[in-house]
Amino acid sequence: MSFSATALTGNKPEQYAQLLEQARALLHDECDRIANAANLSSLVYHALPDLNWVGFYFFNGNELVVGPFQGLPACVRIPLDKGVCGAAARTRQTQRIEDVHAFPGHIACDSASNSELVVPLVDGAGNLLGVFDLDSPLRARFDADDQRGLEAIADAFVASLR
Ligand code: SME
Repeated sequence: MSFSATALTGNKPEQYAQLLEQARALLHDECDRIANAANLSSLVYHALPDLNWVGFYFFNGNELVVGPFQGLPACVRIPLDKGVCGAAARTRQTQRIEDVHAFPGHIACDSASNSELVVPLVDGAGNLLGVFDLDSPLRARFDADDQRGLEAIADAFVASLR
């Protein structure tokens, strides 16, 4: 299969609708967790501006373990009581953090990161699968449109695993 990502156009919700379509095309008929996480990380990292890290942590029943990503090498294991990723996994609520330096327990993997969005990945049966994590060098990079758009992409990932 060859995949070509076309540039996103229009306002932010329109751009996210296009990105979701590209994500669905990329995940189509594939249910491998590593393959889909790897391709989604690449798609999102290259499609959206001002990101320095995009990737997945998977829950092993005890803690989060780094999965496929784009960006600098990252911390391998994150306990659920640590960091923004741990908070997303523990509370199962998206964490949209304007200034990570003000977040108690933030884990600085890449010193360039200033804001962060972490979406929990939960399957239809309510099991925690992991988190989808995006970091930006900009302060307050992520707004409510970004959150909605990236939650929809995270949902498409979970749905692809079947
Ligand atoms: N900053 C995250 C750790 C993961 S890295 O950003 C890739 C956190 O506090 O959970």
